[in-house]
Amino acid sequence: MTQAFLPLLKKAEGARVVMMGSGLGSLALVTDPTSIYSKANLLAYSSSKTAFNAVSVAFAKELEPLGIKVNAVEPGSVATDLNGNNGALTPDEGAASAIRLATIGVDGPTGGFFGHDGVQPW
Ligand SMILES: NC(=O)c1ccc[n+]([C@@H]2O[C@H](COP(=O)([O-])OP(=O)(O)OC[C@H]3O[C@@H](n4cnc5c(N)ncnc54)[C@H](OP(=O)(O)O)[C@@H]3O)[C@@H](O)[C@H]2O)c1
Repeated sequence: MTQAFLPLLKKAEGARVVMMGSGLGSLALVTDPTSIYSKANLLAYSSSKTAFNAVSVAFAKELEPLGIKVNAVEPGSVATDLNGNNGALTPDEGAASAIRLATIGVDGPTGGFFGHDGVQPW
């Protein structure tokens, strides 16, 4: 989808791309016994989100010269259809990090991974 939107992103002023990742895609978090993300072991979901982080970094590097910032986000545990509406946050709360990254200014980061409490480990 990012590829498909590239022509429009290149025309836009201050274009931003936010990749909706997950703490379950963080190798650091899923191997940290103190992290809640180490309690789940979801082969397809986690590995696809880990790969998605790599995709996000690759796009960030490719698009940085054009002023397009690309960041991955970890929304937290959000009550949606995905988890039978059992998440701790509302969809509005879960969207907050993504919206913040979608609206960062020229001094904002690119190629990073962020959650509610700031930078997340890859
Ligand atoms: N919920 C959480 O706690 C949580 C935590 C970390 C990350 N995330 C991530 O947040 C993102 C959104 O998840 P969610 O929790 O909001 O789940 P959700 O309520 O199940 O929503 C998933 C959305 O994806 C759409 N979709 C699914 N397959 C599609 C396809 N092939 N083409 C186009 N659209 C498709 C669905 O459309 P329809 O409604 O039309 O089927 C739905 O709108 C996902 O990437 C998920 O991994 C969620």
